[in-house]
Amino acid sequence: MSSPSGDFLRIAPDVRLGAGARVFGFVNLYGCEIGDDSRIGTFVEIQKESRIGKRCKISSHTFICSGVTIDDEVFVGHGVMFINDLFPRATNEDGSSQTEADWKCVATRVKRRASIGSNATILGGVTIGEGAIVGAGAVVTKDVPDRAVVAGNPARILRYLDAPKIPLQQ
Ligand SMILES: CC(C)(COP(=O)(O)OP(=O)(O)OC[C@H]1O[C@@H](n2cnc3c(N)ncnc32)[C@H](O)[C@@H]1OP(=O)(O)O)[C@@H](O)C(=O)NCCC(=O)NCCS
Repeated sequence: MSSPSGDFLRIAPDVRLGAGARVFGFVNLYGCEIGDDSRIGTFVEIQKESRIGKRCKISSHTFICSGVTIDDEVFVGHGVMFINDLFPRATNEDGSSQTEADWKCVATRVKRRASIGSNATILGGVTIGEGAIVGAGAVVTKDVPDRAVVAGNPARILRYLDAPKIPLQQ
């Protein structure tokens, strides 16, 4: 593990950091697993019970919440937001603060060699297919098929990578 700004990052003792993983400054990692040779950019937070595969690139300012599984060789752009609670509340009906017992984490999976463009939002419960591309700023609300290119809010399929680049009928 290499950390050029070692004084300005927090890697909790329960993080499983793979061989050759590189972590840059101002990150906050806890209870997660980072695979071999993956790179974690500046100002990234990765929460417990999430897993990053091998040889991934997680770009700066991205938030990866509990319940996210990212397979090997995935690219995550800058400022990507994952979501694991579709109906969040700060408090319960009686006004008491919510705790982990008061909500259910919704899991998300990103399959091998997929790429997620900068500023995308990935809602909980979706699977992003192998080799798929999510456009910058997309809001992904449904599963993305393997090798699909999606963009927009809500994200729609623009094309498939194996297909010629002609507009699809909507
Ligand atoms: C989506 C993307 C992969 C391009 O895919 P593509 O299939 O080559 O799409 P095209 O450029 O041919 O554009 C097709 C249509 O989608 C639109 N489009 C392209 N990217 C879009 C995006 N991110 N959001 C919304 N619409 C987008 C285009 O305007 C075009 O619309 P039109 O048909 O009405 O003219 C690319 O634009 C993108 O967003 N890449 C992510 C880049 C990124 O975030 N990198 C991070 C590190 S720098």
